[in-house]
Amino acid sequence: MGNGYPASTSRSAELHRRGLAVIPDGVSRSTVIIRPHPIYVDNAKGAWITDVDGNRYLDCNNNFTSIILGHADPVIEAAVRKQLGRGTAFSMATEAEIELAEILCSRISSCEQMRFCNSGTEGVMGAIKAARAFTGRPTIIKVEGSYHGTYDHAEASLGSDPSNWGLADAPSTVPYAQGAPDSLADEVVVVQFNDAHGAVETIRRVGTRLAAVLCDLMPSRVGMPVLDPTFSEALRTTTREVGALLILDEVISFRLAHGGAQAIHGIDPDLTVLAKIIGGGFPVGAIGGRSDVMEVFAAVDGDRAAVPSGGTYTANPVTMTAGVACMRELTGPNFDRLDDIGNQIRQGLEGLFEERAIEWQVTGAGSLFRIHPHQRRICSYRDAHLNSDETTVMTSLQHRLLEREVYLSGYGMGCVNLATSDADIHHFLGAASEALRLVVP
Ligand SMILES: Cc1ncc(COP(=O)(O)O)c(C=O)c1O
Repeated sequence: MGNGYPASTSRSAELHRRGLAVIPDGVSRSTVIIRPHPIYVDNAKGAWITDVDGNRYLDCNNNFTSIILGHADPVIEAAVRKQLGRGTAFSMATEAEIELAEILCSRISSCEQMRFCNSGTEGVMGAIKAARAFTGRPTIIKVEGSYHGTYDHAEASLGSDPSNWGLADAPSTVPYAQGAPDSLADEVVVVQFNDAHGAVETIRRVGTRLAAVLCDLMPSRVGMPVLDPTFSEALRTTTREVGALLILDEVISFRLAHGGAQAIHGIDPDLTVLAKIIGGGFPVGAIGGRSDVMEVFAAVDGDRAAVPSGGTYTANPVTMTAGVACMRELTGPNFDRLDDIGNQIRQGLEGLFEERAIEWQVTGAGSLFRIHPHQRRICSYRDAHLNSDETTVMTSLQHRLLEREVYLSGYGMGCVNLATSDADIHHFLGAASEALRLVVP
């Protein structure tokens, strides 16, 4: 067996004890917590991470999908090093910002213009503010269980469970963070993914109060279900009918194709939110869309913009340079290779389940996959929601994989990068086979 994780005598455990004194939970991201202690990284190269104890892991998470070429990619490293020597951030603009905006607008047909920010959370928040300013309306509709970052409105019903999620055709708006304002229930209305009929009714009911519908076409926390085209068509047609906007969150799904998931499904949103891969491994977010909508960010005739936006590190040239380098590398053949890696993993896992008569399944597309410890047909969040036994099984799977040099998220969401070789895929499937033998005896 490869790794020594977890060990109370390890350097990771020691760092965690030290971190706990000055950082709640010992780390600043709830998402990197693994019990009994998080893993502290020393370095990473290509598809592999090495921790501070010298343990190695095939990275099947890739910083929750932000790394696409591979860790420490030499092309990005060279571009960034060059920029570092020329300064990292100024209270003035740089050409790199225009270059990245040009590349993204040329790849995404619905985007005529682009504004940058520093994270997907900020991008979603900015898109919601833009929709409210453009329409003069307060309410948004979002999909139950779908993750769009940590803005209160975008988080609504992210963690709904059977005790509070309400009726299937009228899901409750459930605040995620404690202390979220009561007004959330008026300002956010929730629908189920793939429920075209429910979406049409809800959009029409909210009608003249509706600013926008926010949707991710392959939401990971919803289980990466296959999109029913009648659902996305219903969102597009009915938002137009009531004069509201359609915002697509492509923070993750942009890694599925040269033009993102909207190109695959032929959907034409008013606004698109991007982040993760477009920063080439550096913090980033962006809002793109039709120029008449994007106009809300412009200070016309020196007046304040309808939606002022800034940010000390927004469009800093290090991120922009890394983003440009990354986008240039992401050509058609590289997307084919990412699809190929993802297919080998998904098919390999399905093969393992079948061979052992394990009643599990795998969803996903391109470089993304999600393992589910059950065979409920996954259309929406309620199908994918794990009960406590299933949660325990998935945590156990994560640990058995860690012992076998594979790092996968605790809820079974996986993501591969371009540096993943066929030998790495073989390693993953070997580790998964052994881990499954222990987890599902
Ligand atoms: C679909 C989606 N939207 C928005 C976000 C928020 O992005 P960030 O973590 O950069 O704030 C995420 C992050 O995982 C995401 O997956």
